Amino acid sequence: MAVTPVSRAWDELFAARTRGGVGEAIADILALLAVPGVISFAGGFPDPRTFPRERAAQLLAEFAETGEASAFQYAPTRGLAGPLDAIARRLETTQGRRPDDDELLITSGAIEALELVGKTFLDAGDLVVVEGPTYLGALMAFRGFGAEVATVPIDEDGLQVDELERQLAAGLRPKLLYSIPDHQNPAGVSLSGERREPLVELARRHGFLVFEDVAYRELGFGDDSLPSLWSLGPDVVVQAGTTSKTFFPGVRLGWAAAPAPISARLVSAKQNTDQCAGALGQRLFEEYARRGWLEEQLAASRALYRTKCERMLAALERTMPAGVQWTTPGGGFFSWLTLPEGSDAELLAKRAVEAGVGIVPGSVFFADGRGRENVRLSFSLVDESAIDEGIEKLAALL
Ligand SMILES: Cc1ncc(COP(=O)(O)O)c(C=O)c1O
Repeated sequence: MAVTPVSRAWDELFAARTRGGVGEAIADILALLAVPGVISFAGGFPDPRTFPRERAAQLLAEFAETGEASAFQYAPTRGLAGPLDAIARRLETTQGRRPDDDELLITSGAIEALELVGKTFLDAGDLVVVEGPTYLGALMAFRGFGAEVATVPIDEDGLQVDELERQLAAGLRPKLLYSIPDHQNPAGVSLSGERREPLVELARRHGFLVFEDVAYRELGFGDDSLPSLWSLGPDVVVQAGTTSKTFFPGVRLGWAAAPAPISARLVSAKQNTDQCAGALGQRLFEEYARRGWLEEQLAASRALYRTKCERMLAALERTMPAGVQWTTPGGGFFSWLTLPEGSDAELLAKRAVEAGVGIVPGSVFFADGRGRENVRLSFSLVDESAIDEGIEKLAALL
């Protein structure tokens, strides 16, 4: 018997937390990447030239030949012991502190760490402080839990910690503060050394948790790295990291390091997101890191992104009209443009796509509608030989 399809307005069945386009912004950006012929400075994707194709293939062949089971099996929710140890060792080498066994868990990317912390801490109406501007995925995660989001501005030295202190003194009571201290997305700036300890002290004094996102920490263009917030305050900081920008995002692999009681809650929360991060990615990463290959890849990636960044900055310098400013990143994937007063970056983004250039308007990186005069430019994925042409087209529109 033929079934007559019913046309239904599903909107009224959707949960309230999904209304208002909470999840659409990232999808819109990803769509720009797919338009053929567009020179895209839009998405923060790694350059496929950094992907370790042959070594990944070699490791997969080894797993198959040696009859290894764990790479193909379910893993414990916290993570497999070997990969946990490999990540703990890296944290010890790069941040000077090794998490205890009950402080570390492996996640399906840093995005999952945001989800787990949200599930564990946030009731509707709870207050989260974010940097203005900040990572869109974090805004979406916090809004998805019905949290109120308050914004503290950043400058060339990252989060304005003195402004945060003023707001706390005036009665601001967050549960959580979200920060990207190194080569921030979207602004490309880093939190200065002098502001790090005071930020951790504020968390201790006012009783909130710091969520430190270190997605770009290992992609500095120089040798210098500042102490992580987690190494300064392992009692008040959850650190989320990812292998997406340093290994490859196809494995969807990250970690969270947190005080033991929090870590235990995150593991519980993970039991009904994905139960465990993919074991295959965990084992690939473990072997890759143990053989010293990650260091080699990192050195090549840093050099590649540095070259692209320099090329983009030089093109901006050459072509942009007076009154346009931009940040000079010391690492990561992004620079942040400030257009002359009264500009409309959303309109510019539309015109830019018509002219064959993808950019992201600044307003999507704010919780409160600011950023209308800002643009995020990502230099990570764009073809190096197209950078000059893309920036010239953008400058012509301005
Ligand atoms: C600041 C920041 N955090 C987290 C992520 C997501 O990382 P993952 O791929 O591990 O989920 C990104 C990716 O763009 C990012 O820019």
